Amino acid sequence: MPLLFRKVKELRNHLHTLRCERNASLGFVPTMGYLHEGHRALMERARLQNDITVVSIYVNPTQFGEGEDYERYPRDLERDMAVCEEAGIDVVFAPTDKEVYPPGSRTEVYVRELSEVLEGKFRPGHFKGVATVVTKLLNAVQPDRAYFGEKDYQQLKLIQRLVKDLLIPVEIVPVETVREPDGLAYSSRNVYLSPEERESALSIYRAFLLAQEMINQGERSSDTIKGEMERFILSHPHVKKIDYIEITDPDLNPKGLVDRGDRILVALWVGSSRLIDNWKVL
Ligand code: PAJ
Repeated sequence: MPLLFRKVKELRNHLHTLRCERNASLGFVPTMGYLHEGHRALMERARLQNDITVVSIYVNPTQFGEGEDYERYPRDLERDMAVCEEAGIDVVFAPTDKEVYPPGSRTEVYVRELSEVLEGKFRPGHFKGVATVVTKLLNAVQPDRAYFGEKDYQQLKLIQRLVKDLLIPVEIVPVETVREPDGLAYSSRNVYLSPEERESALSIYRAFLLAQEMINQGERSSDTIKGEMERFILSHPHVKKIDYIEITDPDLNPKGLVDRGDRILVALWVGSSRLIDNWKVL
């Protein structure tokens, strides 16, 4: 079993010893738990590139908005510990709220502009919560490398910006999105979906394939591609609402004409679940 720490101080003491005595390099995978194959890919990459791998499991309250799914977000530490053991993780950090937000906390981290577009428009305050907690976790663990999934592409870009701006000495390593065999991106939130809703959720991946096919056929207009994707996705019964379909360059600037390497980003509601996904144009 990996060692489990609940307190920053104890985690620090342990990691300090490993770093100093064994001169070990440290890889870090921050998560909110309920671990799946997407998380597994991050852990595997971290294991390959580092001597010691640390996973954090913390459902961060400040990145959930009012009325979002903080309370019902799935949690199962026992199962997560077993997944971490199988993945060869050395240390699990599962702090309490008090450890992460000491009583009287007044400090937040806010990444301007990047926090306000796309997801930020629909989830006010979300990225302030993410930026703040990731800064704290990086400070607690002080890893050489930290691993983030492209599944949450805007989050990845925001974290890259954040460590640059705050001079945090860590290498951010992006990991490609892992999908189920039928194309649905793994997500802890997929457990909310009924079988019928899951079928409708597949429209996201299929819409990416449709867009890619249009691009392969020579279509370059973002509006035309977005329009076709929207029509296709909305033809699925359990899709309640599309929050956005956007096509951007790799730095999230909107594009009128599509090029290879651009990103197509989607957020939508299936039943009562909000799903996000994105696609790198080939
Ligand atoms: P969580 O949703 O648990 O995701 C943890 C990490 O796993 C993130 O970097 C995310 O992008 C990655 N991930 C999730 N699904 C993936 C998939 N299908 N393929 C590849 N990577 C995937 O993201 C968070 O937690 C939180 O916001 C956190 C960064 C931990 C801060 O609280």
